[in-house]
Amino acid sequence: MYRSRPKGNLDKDVLNFLSSMKDDDPILHYDLVGSQAHSIMLYEMGHLTLTELQKILKSLEEIKENPIVLADGEEFEDIHESIESYVIKKAGGDAGGKMHTARSRNDQVILDIRMKVRDDINNLCLALANLIESLLLKAEEYKDIPMPMYTHTQQAQIGTFSHFLTSYTDALFRDMERLYIAYGRINQSPLGACAIGGTSIKIDRKMTAELLGFDSVVRNSIDATSSRDALIEYVGTLSVLATTLGRVAEDFILWSTSEFGYIELADEQSSTSSAMPQKKNPDPLELVRAKSGSVIGSLVRILCTVKGLPSGYSRDLQDLKPAIWQATTAISGSIKVMEKVVRSIQVNKGRMQDAAKNSYAISLDIAEQLVARKGLAFRTAHKIVGSLVEEAVQKGNMPLAMLGAPDIAQVVKKQGSQLDADELMQIIKEVTPVKSLALRSSLGSPNPKEQEEAIQLSIRSLSGFKTGIQKRIDKVDTAFKSLSDSVQEYLRTS
Ligand code: ARG
Repeated sequence: MYRSRPKGNLDKDVLNFLSSMKDDDPILHYDLVGSQAHSIMLYEMGHLTLTELQKILKSLEEIKENPIVLADGEEFEDIHESIESYVIKKAGGDAGGKMHTARSRNDQVILDIRMKVRDDINNLCLALANLIESLLLKAEEYKDIPMPMYTHTQQAQIGTFSHFLTSYTDALFRDMERLYIAYGRINQSPLGACAIGGTSIKIDRKMTAELLGFDSVVRNSIDATSSRDALIEYVGTLSVLATTLGRVAEDFILWSTSEFGYIELADEQSSTSSAMPQKKNPDPLELVRAKSGSVIGSLVRILCTVKGLPSGYSRDLQDLKPAIWQATTAISGSIKVMEKVVRSIQVNKGRMQDAAKNSYAISLDIAEQLVARKGLAFRTAHKIVGSLVEEAVQKGNMPLAMLGAPDIAQVVKKQGSQLDADELMQIIKEVTPVKSLALRSSLGSPNPKEQEEAIQLSIRSLSGFKTGIQKRIDKVDTAFKSLSDSVQEYLRTS
């Protein structure tokens, strides 16, 4: 349809190679409403008669109601050509041939992508809010149950499952915030920038932007058609989010092993082995972990594609679409699965408590008590407790609380300390995992009271976010609803 200078049809293999039809499904709906808004604006600016507008709108409505009408055996370069050619066929060349006045596929395609991505961002933000909510509910339940924390995947300090969960929600909040901010740069209309340099035909870019629920327009016509930075930012934020989800997945995978046994995935969330009957595998979480690779892959693919491109549309940009869709799909699936896992996860408090009780992760708390109660230099306390651990390990990895008075006295002597061995023993026995959590008073520590405050703060900011997201969704819905009402109104007008 576009071939005015080149004669004849495109070579079949070339057309096949060139066509973006398989990647255009997700923008079909947006292309239709975008075309309706553009046509209404053309009519309002005096470039279409009412009858011409009605013919165009009617054809577009037919596709909206039944997209299958587009599949008439003809091959197209993309969804834009396919839609326009249907409109011309149905509305006639005189009317339908006017739809593309003051427009190019260059502003059209990025318009469609922006409308799709803004919906995707809203949906992802809502899904993230639900995931955060599920994590906070669990965090509320496990504030007082001690479990070891790990650095270098080695037992480090006593903490709580709740504290881990709110560490995830804090990171996910930032991910949501990044997406929320990226939305502002996505929700700007490029329509009317035309091929690259605008148009001499009198159009109203602000009118189409408003009809389609955009906050503003991308002003510069070169920028509007050439730049993809807002999309890179979007997939960039998805990549960061993917690494957060990957970390949660990895923690859960590790803690669901028989060796840890802190948590168990619900049967519905577990896969099994075709060979080993005993298996209950965390495959959904493994795929969440893997998806961070594919999302980052999409980002790199996009960056490599735009890197070195000149200003102005080049067909290279078409190749961004599948990468963006793939990143969105991967993240949306990951969030959904993660939320289901969290809501149904079984927490084995006993295993956590036992691990904490038998762990040398209590060491730092004991050392700190020597500093606080006995005025020891931290370095001295560090040496004494390190020596106690060494002694306990030699006695068959016994917990520090099981060390007898003679063992403790020997350590104190070996360290040349003035410390009273009985007093030291008293401190060791007193600083249980539960007590250690109560003693941990710093802001952001797993202290149960501190934890409760953090949870309440998060619940409050979550509700603020939800209101903001809902407002955005409502704005787009209202714009689309009133566009659809106007279309019906124009169609009824005689
Ligand atoms: N199918 C193209 C894409 O997805 C649409 C824009 C084509 N524009 C052009 N001047 N060749 O990017």
